[in-house]
Parts: sequence; structure tokens; C-alpha cells
Amino acid sequence: MEIQSHDRVQAIGESPAFLATLEQASKVAPLSKPVLIIGERGTGKELIATRLHYLSPRWEQPFIKLNCSSLTESILESELFGHEAGAFTGAIQRHIGRFERADEGTLFLDELATIPRRMQEKILRVIEYGEFERVGGNETIRVSVRIVAATNANLPEMAKQGTFRADLLDRLAFDVINLPALRYRQSDILLLAEFYAMNMVRELGWPYFPGFTRAAQEALLNYGWPGNIRELRNVVERSLYRTEWTEEPIDKIRFNPFITEFEHRFDALEKTPAEIMQNSVAPVHTLDVTALQTPLKESVSNLEKKMIDLAMREAQFNQAKAAKLLSLSYHQLRAYLKKHNLLEQYGRKAQTSD
Ligand SMILES: Nc1ncnc2c1ncn2[C@@H]1O[C@H](COP(=O)(O)OP(=O)(O)OP(=O)(O)O)[C@@H](O)[C@H]1O
Ligand SMILES: [Mg+2]
Repeated sequence: MEIQSHDRVQAIGESPAFLATLEQASKVAPLSKPVLIIGERGTGKELIATRLHYLSPRWEQPFIKLNCSSLTESILESELFGHEAGAFTGAIQRHIGRFERADEGTLFLDELATIPRRMQEKILRVIEYGEFERVGGNETIRVSVRIVAATNANLPEMAKQGTFRADLLDRLAFDVINLPALRYRQSDILLLAEFYAMNMVRELGWPYFPGFTRAAQEALLNYGWPGNIRELRNVVERSLYRTEWTEEPIDKIRFNPFITEFEHRFDALEKTPAEIMQNSVAPVHTLDVTALQTPLKESVSNLEKKMIDLAMREAQFNQAKAAKLLSLSYHQLRAYLKKHNLLEQYGRKAQTSD
């Protein structure tokens, strides 16, 4: 499902990290200065770029996008600056580039880090002087374009290593908006899940959204979301779509689309503990000398409890699955639960989720 154009700038989220980002975007939007948006994949960089445009005085003018990744240097040059007929073999007609089309509006350069150095120089010139020539032409074109760029690369590091021009970075980074990863926006996870669930309910023609069970909510909250909001959206939409509508709340969260319905019941078993730890919000344990202040037996006991908790959540409180994740037999896991007085706690959760 494609988001409707009026939804494009709808930004869901109330977490402090996200609200700070929105406020920063609102503040810089009215200016014509370049803005650099940085964030992991799927965190909403394009959404913020769109917002910057529609909240600016340029909102009635064009909002032009170019994804700079995977374009060869010559195609990128033609796309950005246009070319004259006959500029090169195959250039039959004049081509108007994105800078020209974005005149008076905003040009969004996505995946900026991958552009070759010569293009970096040309872009810098447009930012500095507001003018350029089409490829193969000598007419000077003047434009007023606001540039918004996005990347998930570490540009300052690239500038240090000489793979990205430091002066272009300086010019683009009048302000830098750092989009928080979803794992730092815990309080937004269920909000976004509900938002995408409601959209899907409409699309599926369900009479209403029955909600998520507590176990499903826990599963959503405890996942690491490496693909951020895009992944969350897919997971939620898939979870609803794979469920036959009943009045019962959604219980199964379909994180992995590559397995069949039957296998899905064993979904949690497919992940190794290492993968779970990688995906969990924080590493299970990190050690430094301060760890020596706690007796070894106590530390080991704490680690056991943490690992058990992690596995139980990952297994959506199914003890057999959790045992498998911990490479224990069911009875061994029960013994650990008993040792740590957790039988009652997890027993109760299992009843609410199963
Ligand atoms: N705060 C938000 N509220 C609602 N939807 C959001 C929000 N942020 C992002 N999205 C949605 O998540 C998806 C990914 O967002 P977007 O394409 O802007 O991310 P991106 O950072 O540009 O990703 P990539 O690095 O993969 O290009 C889109 O469908 C977008 O509408
Ligand atoms: Mg993007």
C-alpha cells in the first residue's frame, strides 16, 4: 500500500527523542539553508525531508528528489544538471536536470554519500553561486534551490578520510537533523504499530481493529528493529494480513516473512541466542572492572535471569520455545525458573498469551 500524498508528512511519535527532532525540523524549515538528515535505514529521513519542504515558504513550488546511489557519474551529472542535445552519444534531446526543475523549490538528494568527487565539486558550486551549465552547454543557468540531503553514512568520518569533500559537508550541514533509531523511541513503538494496524484494517475491510495481546505488545517492544519504522510497518501489516479476522486480539507477530504459516509457530526457534542479543535493545552484559565489585556467583545468577527473561520475551512467553533458544531442555528451563523464583511470573504471562 502506498501512503497517500496527504499522509506523506504525517509523522507519528511522541517520544522525547522524536519530538526534539520534529521541533528542530520545524525551526529550520522556513529557512532556505541546506539541511543534512542523518539516520539509519527506515528511520524517516525522506519523511522529514518532505516535511521540511511543505513547512517552508517554498511549499507550492516543486519538491524534486534524486536518489544518488547506484547512478554512474555521467548519469548523475545529466540528472542533476541536465544536458544539451548532442552533448554525448545518445543525447538526442535537451534534458532538463533536477536543479533546474527544482528552481524556487527544494531538491532532495538522497543517499548523498555515494556521489563521486567531481559531482561533489559541481554541487558545491551551485550552492555557492546558484549557477551551473547543462552538460555540453555554455549557457549559465541561475536557480534558487533549497538543498536537503540524506544519508546513513558517517560523513564527518568520510571527510576525514578524504572520500567526501569537507567543504561540501560544511555547506550542506548548516543544520544536521539526526533521526533517532526506533529502539531509542520505545514509547513510539506501540503508537506506530497501532497506526499501521489501523491502516491495514481499513485495507483488509475488517469491521474494527481487535488490538494486540499483551504478549504481542511485549514482542513488538522487545524486538531491536534494525530496519526501523519501515520494518515495523511491514511486520505489523503482515501480522494482520496473515491473521483471519476474529474479535480476538492479534497474538502472533510475524517478524519473518520467509517462513510458512506452519513453520511460523516455531519462528522464535529460528534465531540463535547471538542473533537475539544483537537485536535486543541493550547487550545482555558488558563488563569492565566495576563488575568485580559483585561476587561472581551473584553476577552469574543475574546473567541467568536476564538471559531467561530475554528468551521468554523473544519466545512470546512460550516456555518450550524459550528453552530451545537457551539450548536447554524444557525441564532444565523449569528448574532455572524455579531456582530464580520465576515460575509464577512467567507462568502467569504464559496464560495471558497462549
Ligand atoms: N514518524 C513517522 N510516522 C509515521 N510513519 C513514518 C514515520 N517515520 C517514517 N515513517 C514511514 O516509515 C517508512 C520509512 O520512512 P523513510 O522512507 O522516510 O525512511 P528513510 O530513512 O528515508 O529510509 P531509507 O534509509 O531506507 O531510505 C515510510 O513508509 C514512512 O512513511
Ligand atoms: Mg530514504
